Amino acid sequence: MKVVLLNGSPHPKGCTYTVLCEVARGLSESGVEAEILQIGREEIPGCKGCFACRKIGRCVQEDIVNRTAQTIIESDGMIIGSPVYFSSPNGTLVSYLDRLYAAYGDYLKYKPCGCMVSARRAGTTSALEVLNKYPLVGEQPLVSSSYWCMAFGNTPEEVRADTEGMEIAYNLGCKMAWMVKALHGVPTPDDERAQNGQNGQI
Ligand SMILES: Cc1cc2nc3c(=O)[nH]c(=O)nc-3n(C[C@H](O)[C@H](O)[C@H](O)COP(=O)(O)O)c2cc1C
Repeated sequence: MKVVLLNGSPHPKGCTYTVLCEVARGLSESGVEAEILQIGREEIPGCKGCFACRKIGRCVQEDIVNRTAQTIIESDGMIIGSPVYFSSPNGTLVSYLDRLYAAYGDYLKYKPCGCMVSARRAGTTSALEVLNKYPLVGEQPLVSSSYWCMAFGNTPEEVRADTEGMEIAYNLGCKMAWMVKALHGVPTPDDERAQNGQNGQI
């Protein structure tokens, strides 16, 4: 079983990465493989709203969204990690998620997802609210931790010193591992409908 962790930050080894490494530790110590995907360093234009993805099944803009989609689809669970920029997730990540969910959201349905933010001081709850809405509208089980999923610091050292934030990150990994193991092999409501000969999805 494998969980992918999206690092929305432009800093591949910054605060968000430090937090995600702790989530990954919780996953691997619970027997689940973890892979961090570096997202936020690339130029990622926003969604054009052309709806071509509904016809061709991928985004017309050929970049990291299409390149990473299959890895996420094949995973058993996903974690979205973001720095807080002006009380929101960083813009590059938002562009990525808009296009990922527009083009590939149907394939993420029922995949457990957790979100975690890192900030110097403030805006964490509003950033988390934005992030949590992707899995919620995507019909994905939203995985919680032992407290709000945030860690504080402006440098990786400061983030590591936030012992409560690190513990929350670790616990998010453990709870995600529990979730993917609990759901492994369990038919989805859509599978059950198909098995019962019922049409359509719920
Ligand atoms: C453009 C910009 C806006 C930011 N806005 C906030 C903010 O609203 N609140 C906050 O606490 N930190 C803010 N920060 C600080 C970052 O959230 C914080 O340093 C974060 O941990 C950096 O993560 P990273 O190293 O993974 O990029 C901002 C940083 C930048 C570059």
